[in-house]
Amino acid sequence: MKRLAGKTALITGAARGIGLAFARAYAGEGARVALADIDRARARAAAEGIGPAAVAIEMDATRQESIEAGVGEAAEALGGIDILINSAAVFTAAPVTEITRADYHRIFDLNVAGTLFTLQAVARRMIERGRGGKIINMASQAGRRGEPLVAVYCASKAAVISLTQSAGLNLIAHGINVNAIAPGVVDGEHWDEVDAFFARYEGKAPGQKKAEVGAAVPYGRMGRPSDLTGMAIFLATEEADYIVAQTFNVDGGNWMS
Ligand SMILES: NC(=O)c1ccc[n+]([C@@H]2O[C@H](COP(=O)([O-])OP(=O)(O)OC[C@H]3O[C@@H](n4cnc5c(N)ncnc54)[C@H](O)[C@@H]3O)[C@@H](O)[C@H]2O)c1
Repeated sequence: MKRLAGKTALITGAARGIGLAFARAYAGEGARVALADIDRARARAAAEGIGPAAVAIEMDATRQESIEAGVGEAAEALGGIDILINSAAVFTAAPVTEITRADYHRIFDLNVAGTLFTLQAVARRMIERGRGGKIINMASQAGRRGEPLVAVYCASKAAVISLTQSAGLNLIAHGINVNAIAPGVVDGEHWDEVDAFFARYEGKAPGQKKAEVGAAVPYGRMGRPSDLTGMAIFLATEEADYIVAQTFNVDGGNWMS
C-alpha cells in the first residue's frame, strides 16, 4: 500500500532541488501533487517529468495575490489540499557591516512572510474543508545557530522554526499538524550559490566550501535531496498525527537539539 495514496499536496519551490525531490517522492507514494514555483517553465517541465499525478502552478510566494491565486488553483486542480510543504526560499550571505535593508527584505519576504502566508491560505481552506491536514515547513540548521556571514538567512530560518511552533500549537485544534524539517548541507543548485558567496567572502576556490562542509558532516558527506524524502513522507502520514510543532534535524548529524 502506497503511504500517500489518495492524498493531495501543494509543494512550493518545487521546480528544483529539495522541493522537486519531495514532489517526485510524494507522487511515488500515490499522492497527487501541485508544484508551485516562481519559475513557471521549470515547474511545468518538472510536473511533466512526474506525469499525470502532477500539475505545475506559477506562484510568487512573496506576493499575497499570487499566494491566494496559486493556492486556489492548486485546490481546484487537486480537489482540495491535504498536505502543504513550504520549500521555497532564498539565500544570502554578507558580513554584518555590509547587510542591506533591500536584501534583508528580499530574504524575509520569501523565507518568513512567504512561509507564513502560504501556510495561512492553505490552513484556512483545510479548516473550511474540515478534514485536518499536514503542513511541513523547511527550516535549516541555519535556524539553530548563527553563522558569521549568514545573519539574515539564519534569522529567517530561526523565524521559520518559531512560526512552526506557534502555528503548530494554534492549528492542531483543527487537526492540522504543522512541523518542520531542518536540513544541514544538501548538494544542488542552492549550494552552488552558497559556495559562490563563500568564494567571494572567504577567498575560497569554487567548490572548496562545498568540499569542506561535506567533509565536516558526521555522516561523511553532504546531503542529497533524497536523504530528506523519508521524513517528508512520514510527517504527511497518519503515523505522525501526534507530532505537533516540532522541527526535525535531517542533517547527517550536524546538529543535535
Ligand atoms: N540545500 C540546502 O543545503 C538546504 C539546507 C537547509 C535548508 N534548506 C532549505 O530547504 C528548502 C529547499 O532548498 P533547495 O536546496 O531545494 O533550494 P533551491 O534554491 O534549489 O530551490 C528553491 C526553489 O524556490 C523557488 N523560488 C524562489 N523564489 C520563489 C518565490 N518568490 N516564490 C516561489 N518559489 C520561489 C526557486 O525557483 C527554486 O525552484 C529551502 O527552504 C532551503 O532554505 C536547504
